[in-house]
Amino acid sequence: METSYTPSQTYIEEFNPVDYFKTYYHPKEGTMTGDWLNFVLQNLHEIFTSGGVKGDILIDFGAGPSIYHLLSACEAFNNIITSDFLQQNREQLEKWLRKDPNAFDWTPIVKYVCELEGKSDSESCKKKEEKLRRTVTKVVKCDALKKNPFESVEMPQADCLISCLCLEAPCKDVESFTNALRNLKVFLKPGGHIIIQNVLNCTYYYVGKKRFSSLSISKEELETAVKEAGYEIVKLKVIPCTDKPRVDISDYDGFYYVHARKPSA
Ligand SMILES: C[S@@+](CC[C@H](N)C(=O)[O-])C[C@H]1O[C@@H](n2cnc3c(N)ncnc32)[C@H](O)[C@@H]1O
Repeated sequence: METSYTPSQTYIEEFNPVDYFKTYYHPKEGTMTGDWLNFVLQNLHEIFTSGGVKGDILIDFGAGPSIYHLLSACEAFNNIITSDFLQQNREQLEKWLRKDPNAFDWTPIVKYVCELEGKSDSESCKKKEEKLRRTVTKVVKCDALKKNPFESVEMPQADCLISCLCLEAPCKDVESFTNALRNLKVFLKPGGHIIIQNVLNCTYYYVGKKRFSSLSISKEELETAVKEAGYEIVKLKVIPCTDKPRVDISDYDGFYYVHARKPSA
């Protein structure tokens, strides 16, 4: 069954962050807590520790209601600005930041990142959460479909911009995906890093009972898009997923990681 494109208004009305967390990241029921999180968290651990990418400001584009992808970054940057298109997702981020008792429980994922860093006792895990809370200084609105994706907010240029599982949601085709990447370049310092991670060849995903469309992108299309958007690719990694998702969840068949840089001059 082909999935028709999901417009922004449907996201506004029907994307439920509680269902999203339950479907994908819940410690017991979540379907992305295996292969995907191992892939994405190991990549981020490597790039922000041994990979040597660090600096003052990191911008996170399209976080959803999630913080997992910032757990390594907070060791490498002084200041993280996170963002999402939806108010209901930004509210969930704010809840976690202010330790609201109803915030989502990311503790198993915090522990996993602490294990990668070699210190996963409960004190170290608590310190990691506190460090991330201190480092995230703003939660702002973003829109990948706008020429200025942060139009209502004045943004500094960052040393690094990351985005996980986001751009394929609003972008209808590879041209729109390329434009979104191009429009983000202005928010990077010359020589700044961009790190994008997502699933491959995915046409839909479910949040609770609601089906959302996804731009199905191949490795070749991705590589061309990043280059056409004006970045220099440092590393592009693609892996097939060993456990295919259930059809009532999604239809991706692999994961990608791309690290590129805005040219220095
Ligand atoms: C699959 S969720 C991913 C959430 C999160 N990044 C993660 O890794 O769990 C897709 C995200 O795309 C966001 N989104 C939808 N339309 C958007 C737009 N026009 N611009 C930017 N993000 C958008 C949604 O708000 C949602 O957070």
